[in-house]
Amino acid sequence: MLELKHLSYAVHEDGGELGILNDISLTVEDGTLVVFTGPNGGGKTTLAKSIMGLVKPTAGQIFWNGQDVTELGITQRARLGISYGFQQPPRFKGLTVRDLLTLASGDEKLPKDRCCQYLTRVGLCANDYLDREVDASLSGGEVKRIEIASILARQGKLMIFDEPEAGIDLWSFARLTETFEQLHAAGGATMIIISHQERIISLADEVIVVGEGRLRHRGTPAEILPRILSDTLGGCPVLRKEAMAQ
Ligand SMILES: Nc1ncnc2c1ncn2[C@@H]1O[C@H](COP(=O)(O)OP(=O)(O)OP(=O)(O)O)[C@@H](O)[C@H]1O
Ligand SMILES: [Mg+2]
Repeated sequence: MLELKHLSYAVHEDGGELGILNDISLTVEDGTLVVFTGPNGGGKTTLAKSIMGLVKPTAGQIFWNGQDVTELGITQRARLGISYGFQQPPRFKGLTVRDLLTLASGDEKLPKDRCCQYLTRVGLCANDYLDREVDASLSGGEVKRIEIASILARQGKLMIFDEPEAGIDLWSFARLTETFEQLHAAGGATMIIISHQERIISLADEVIVVGEGRLRHRGTPAEILPRILSDTLGGCPVLRKEAMAQ
Protein backbone atom coordinates (compact mmCIF):
# COMPACT_ATOMS: atom_id res chain seq x y z
CA MET A 1 0.00 0.00 0.00
CA LEU A 2 1.21 3.49 -0.87
CA GLU A 3 0.37 6.36 1.45
CA LEU A 4 1.09 10.02 0.88
CA LYS A 5 0.62 12.21 3.92
CA HIS A 6 0.35 15.98 3.52
CA LEU A 7 2.87 16.00 0.70
CA SER A 8 4.00 19.42 -0.53
CA TYR A 9 6.68 20.60 -2.91
CA ALA A 10 7.55 24.27 -3.30
CA VAL A 11 10.21 26.09 -5.29
CA HIS A 12 11.64 29.56 -4.80
CA GLU A 13 10.77 31.89 -7.63
CA ASP A 14 11.19 35.66 -7.95
CA GLY A 15 11.90 35.97 -4.25
CA GLY A 16 8.65 34.20 -3.35
CA GLU A 17 7.63 30.58 -2.88
CA LEU A 18 5.67 28.72 -5.53
CA GLY A 19 3.68 25.66 -4.41
CA ILE A 20 3.86 22.91 -7.04
CA LEU A 21 2.28 20.26 -4.80
CA ASN A 22 0.05 21.48 -2.01
CA ASP A 23 -0.78 19.23 0.94
CA ILE A 24 -1.59 16.03 -0.95
CA SER A 25 -2.82 13.05 1.06
CA LEU A 26 -3.65 9.82 -0.72
CA THR A 27 -3.77 6.06 -0.23
CA VAL A 28 -3.32 3.60 -3.08
CA GLU A 29 -4.32 0.05 -2.13
CA ASP A 30 -2.32 -2.96 -3.34
CA GLY A 31 -3.34 -4.36 -6.70
CA THR A 32 -5.30 -1.29 -7.75
CA LEU A 33 -4.94 0.74 -10.92
CA VAL A 34 -5.15 4.47 -10.29
CA VAL A 35 -5.08 7.03 -13.09
CA PHE A 36 -3.86 10.59 -12.47
CA THR A 37 -5.21 13.00 -15.02
CA GLY A 38 -5.71 16.75 -15.22
CA PRO A 39 -4.49 19.89 -16.97
CA ASN A 40 -0.94 20.44 -18.20
CA GLY A 41 1.22 21.81 -15.43
CA GLY A 42 -1.15 20.50 -12.74
CA GLY A 43 1.57 18.61 -10.87
CA LYS A 44 1.12 14.97 -12.02
CA THR A 45 4.74 14.38 -13.04
CA THR A 46 6.06 16.12 -9.92
CA LEU A 47 3.83 13.90 -7.80
CA ALA A 48 5.05 10.76 -9.60
CA LYS A 49 8.68 11.84 -9.27
CA SER A 50 8.20 12.46 -5.54
CA ILE A 51 6.98 8.89 -5.15
CA MET A 52 10.02 7.59 -7.06
CA GLY A 53 12.45 9.81 -5.12
CA LEU A 54 13.44 11.99 -8.08
CA VAL A 55 11.92 15.06 -6.42
CA LYS A 56 12.37 15.72 -2.72
CA PRO A 57 9.15 16.98 -1.14
CA THR A 58 9.46 20.09 1.02
CA ALA A 59 6.89 18.74 3.49
CA GLY A 60 4.96 15.57 4.18
CA GLN A 61 5.73 11.87 4.14
CA ILE A 62 5.57 8.89 1.80
CA PHE A 63 4.95 5.40 3.16
CA TRP A 64 5.36 2.24 1.11
CA ASN A 65 4.02 -0.93 2.73
CA GLY A 66 4.12 0.81 6.08
CA GLN A 67 7.76 1.93 5.73
CA ASP A 68 8.57 5.64 5.67
CA VAL A 69 10.52 6.05 2.40
CA THR A 70 10.52 9.88 2.34
CA GLU A 71 14.26 10.10 2.92
CA LEU A 72 15.23 7.14 0.71
CA GLY A 73 16.93 7.64 -2.67
CA ILE A 74 15.83 6.27 -6.06
CA THR A 75 17.96 3.12 -5.87
CA GLN A 76 16.64 2.17 -2.45
CA ARG A 77 13.06 2.76 -3.57
CA ALA A 78 13.67 0.71 -6.72
CA ARG A 79 14.90 -2.14 -4.48
CA LEU A 80 11.61 -1.93 -2.61
CA GLY A 81 9.78 -2.48 -5.90
CA ILE A 82 8.89 1.06 -6.99
CA SER A 83 9.46 1.87 -10.66
CA TYR A 84 8.78 4.94 -12.78
CA GLY A 85 8.68 5.42 -16.56
CA PHE A 86 9.55 8.97 -17.58
CA GLN A 87 7.20 11.18 -19.58
CA GLN A 88 10.23 11.81 -21.80
CA PRO A 89 12.48 8.78 -21.41
CA PRO A 90 16.25 9.28 -21.42
CA ARG A 91 18.39 7.65 -24.13
CA PHE A 92 21.42 5.55 -23.36
CA LYS A 93 24.15 5.65 -25.95
CA GLY A 94 26.16 2.43 -26.00
CA LEU A 95 23.41 0.38 -24.33
CA THR A 96 21.36 -2.00 -26.44
CA VAL A 97 17.68 -2.78 -25.91
CA ARG A 98 18.70 -6.24 -24.75
CA ASP A 99 21.15 -4.69 -22.19
CA LEU A 100 18.44 -2.38 -20.90
CA LEU A 101 15.93 -5.20 -20.43
CA THR A 102 18.59 -7.42 -18.83
CA LEU A 103 19.58 -4.68 -16.37
CA ALA A 104 15.95 -3.93 -15.57
CA SER A 105 15.11 -7.58 -14.92
CA GLY A 106 18.10 -8.06 -12.61
CA ASP A 107 18.70 -11.42 -14.35
CA GLU A 108 22.12 -11.39 -16.04
CA LYS A 109 21.07 -14.33 -18.19
CA LEU A 110 17.66 -13.03 -19.23
CA PRO A 111 16.74 -15.39 -22.10
CA LYS A 112 15.97 -13.95 -25.53
CA ASP A 113 12.39 -15.22 -25.47
CA ARG A 114 11.71 -13.29 -22.25
CA CYS A 115 13.03 -10.12 -23.91
CA CYS A 116 10.76 -10.87 -26.86
CA GLN A 117 7.75 -11.22 -24.57
CA TYR A 118 8.36 -7.83 -22.97
CA LEU A 119 8.81 -6.13 -26.34
CA THR A 120 5.75 -7.83 -27.83
CA ARG A 121 3.65 -6.49 -24.97
CA VAL A 122 4.45 -2.95 -26.10
CA GLY A 123 3.92 -3.80 -29.76
CA LEU A 124 7.57 -4.12 -30.85
CA CYS A 125 9.14 -6.99 -32.79
CA ALA A 126 12.14 -8.19 -30.83
CA ASN A 127 14.15 -9.25 -33.87
CA ASP A 128 14.17 -5.67 -35.12
CA TYR A 129 15.14 -4.08 -31.81
CA LEU A 130 17.11 -6.33 -29.46
CA ASP A 131 20.51 -5.29 -30.78
CA ARG A 132 19.65 -1.65 -31.43
CA GLU A 133 21.20 0.97 -29.18
CA VAL A 134 18.83 3.04 -27.06
CA ASP A 135 20.23 6.21 -28.61
CA ALA A 136 19.05 9.07 -30.78
CA SER A 137 18.52 6.75 -33.75
CA LEU A 138 15.31 5.43 -32.17
CA SER A 139 12.11 7.39 -32.75
CA GLY A 140 10.28 9.02 -29.81
CA GLY A 141 7.54 6.39 -29.84
CA GLU A 142 10.09 3.55 -30.00
CA VAL A 143 12.05 4.88 -27.00
CA LYS A 144 8.84 5.32 -25.07
CA ARG A 145 7.73 1.74 -25.75
CA ILE A 146 11.18 0.33 -24.94
CA GLU A 147 11.11 2.12 -21.61
CA ILE A 148 7.68 0.69 -20.83
CA ALA A 149 9.03 -2.78 -21.73
CA SER A 150 11.91 -2.22 -19.28
CA ILE A 151 9.43 -1.40 -16.51
CA LEU A 152 7.57 -4.62 -17.30
CA ALA A 153 10.90 -6.48 -17.12
CA ARG A 154 11.60 -4.95 -13.70
CA GLN A 155 8.44 -6.63 -12.36
CA GLY A 156 8.08 -4.06 -9.61
CA LYS A 157 5.34 -3.97 -7.03
CA LEU A 158 4.40 -0.38 -7.82
CA MET A 159 4.64 0.69 -11.45
CA ILE A 160 4.21 4.33 -12.35
CA PHE A 161 3.79 5.17 -16.02
CA ASP A 162 3.94 8.84 -17.03
CA GLU A 163 1.74 9.37 -20.11
CA PRO A 164 2.55 6.00 -21.67
CA GLU A 165 0.44 6.95 -24.69
CA ALA A 166 2.61 9.96 -25.59
CA GLY A 167 3.89 9.69 -29.15
CA ILE A 168 2.61 6.13 -29.61
CA ASP A 169 0.70 5.18 -32.76
CA LEU A 170 -2.87 3.88 -32.60
CA TRP A 171 -1.98 0.24 -33.24
CA SER A 172 0.67 0.12 -30.54
CA PHE A 173 -1.59 2.07 -28.22
CA ALA A 174 -4.28 -0.60 -28.52
CA ARG A 175 -1.67 -3.28 -27.69
CA LEU A 176 -0.40 -1.27 -24.73
CA THR A 177 -3.88 -0.76 -23.32
CA GLU A 178 -4.42 -4.52 -23.49
CA THR A 179 -1.13 -5.03 -21.63
CA PHE A 180 -2.23 -2.71 -18.82
CA GLU A 181 -5.57 -4.49 -18.66
CA GLN A 182 -3.87 -7.91 -18.43
CA LEU A 183 -1.39 -6.73 -15.79
CA HIS A 184 -4.24 -5.36 -13.73
CA ALA A 185 -6.31 -8.52 -14.12
CA ALA A 186 -3.31 -10.64 -13.03
CA GLY A 187 -3.41 -8.64 -9.80
CA GLY A 188 0.30 -8.76 -8.86
CA ALA A 189 1.10 -5.09 -9.24
CA THR A 190 -0.17 -1.74 -8.13
CA MET A 191 -0.23 0.72 -11.02
CA ILE A 192 -0.36 4.46 -11.22
CA ILE A 193 -0.82 5.65 -14.78
CA ILE A 194 -0.70 9.33 -15.66
CA SER A 195 -2.85 9.72 -18.73
CA HIS A 196 -5.09 11.99 -20.75
CA GLN A 197 -6.56 9.10 -22.75
CA GLU A 198 -10.17 8.07 -22.20
CA ARG A 199 -9.32 4.45 -23.05
CA ILE A 200 -6.74 4.29 -20.23
CA ILE A 201 -8.84 6.34 -17.81
CA SER A 202 -11.67 3.85 -18.25
CA LEU A 203 -9.41 0.98 -17.05
CA ALA A 204 -8.92 2.59 -13.65
CA ASP A 205 -10.34 1.52 -10.30
CA GLU A 206 -10.00 5.15 -9.32
CA VAL A 207 -9.39 8.32 -11.32
CA ILE A 208 -7.80 11.30 -9.60
CA VAL A 209 -7.83 14.73 -11.21
CA VAL A 210 -4.71 16.68 -10.23
CA GLY A 211 -4.81 20.45 -10.75
CA GLU A 212 -2.83 23.32 -9.26
CA GLY A 213 -0.90 20.82 -7.19
CA ARG A 214 -4.00 19.48 -5.43
CA LEU A 215 -6.29 16.47 -5.80
CA ARG A 216 -9.25 18.19 -7.44
CA HIS A 217 -11.68 15.31 -7.91
CA ARG A 218 -11.59 11.58 -7.43
CA GLY A 219 -13.96 8.78 -8.31
CA THR A 220 -14.67 5.97 -10.76
CA PRO A 221 -14.16 6.57 -14.51
CA ALA A 222 -17.96 6.81 -14.92
CA GLU A 223 -18.06 9.57 -12.31
CA ILE A 224 -15.01 11.49 -13.44
CA LEU A 225 -15.10 11.35 -17.26
CA PRO A 226 -18.25 13.53 -17.65
CA ARG A 227 -16.80 15.91 -15.07
CA ILE A 228 -13.56 16.36 -17.01
CA LEU A 229 -15.56 17.38 -20.07
CA SER A 230 -17.69 19.89 -18.19
CA ASP A 231 -14.59 21.32 -16.47
CA THR A 232 -12.91 21.70 -19.84
CA LEU A 233 -15.84 23.65 -21.22
CA GLY A 234 -16.24 25.62 -17.99
CA GLY A 235 -12.60 26.67 -17.93
CA CYS A 236 -12.61 28.33 -21.35
CA PRO A 237 -14.85 31.35 -22.01
CA VAL A 238 -14.87 30.77 -25.80
CA LEU A 239 -15.90 27.12 -25.54
CA ARG A 240 -18.45 28.03 -22.87
CA LYS A 241 -20.08 30.55 -25.21
CA GLU A 242 -20.16 28.01 -28.05
CA ALA A 243 -21.71 25.38 -25.79
CA MET A 244 -24.35 27.87 -24.65
CA ALA A 245 -25.16 28.85 -28.26
CA GLN A 246 -25.94 25.22 -29.19
N1 LIG B 1 11.82 22.85 -10.39
C1 LIG B 1 10.79 23.60 -10.80
N2 LIG B 1 10.86 24.96 -10.82
C2 LIG B 1 9.81 25.73 -11.22
N3 LIG B 1 8.64 25.22 -11.62
C3 LIG B 1 8.51 23.88 -11.64
C4 LIG B 1 9.56 23.00 -11.22
N4 LIG B 1 9.14 21.73 -11.34
C5 LIG B 1 7.88 21.81 -11.82
N5 LIG B 1 7.52 23.09 -12.00
C6 LIG B 1 6.20 23.58 -12.47
O1 LIG B 1 5.22 22.87 -11.74
C7 LIG B 1 4.08 22.65 -12.52
C8 LIG B 1 3.73 21.18 -12.50
O2 LIG B 1 4.60 20.48 -13.36
P1 LIG B 1 4.38 18.94 -13.73
O3 LIG B 1 5.45 18.57 -14.70
O4 LIG B 1 4.30 18.16 -12.47
O5 LIG B 1 2.94 19.00 -14.43
P2 LIG B 1 2.12 17.86 -15.16
O6 LIG B 1 0.79 17.79 -14.47
O7 LIG B 1 2.92 16.61 -15.24
O8 LIG B 1 1.90 18.49 -16.60
P3 LIG B 1 1.82 17.79 -18.07
O9 LIG B 1 0.39 17.30 -18.23
O10 LIG B 1 2.10 18.92 -19.00
O11 LIG B 1 2.85 16.72 -18.13
C9 LIG B 1 4.40 23.23 -13.90
O12 LIG B 1 3.83 24.51 -13.99
C10 LIG B 1 5.91 23.29 -13.92
O13 LIG B 1 6.37 24.30 -14.77
MG1 LIG C 1 3.72 15.52 -16.78
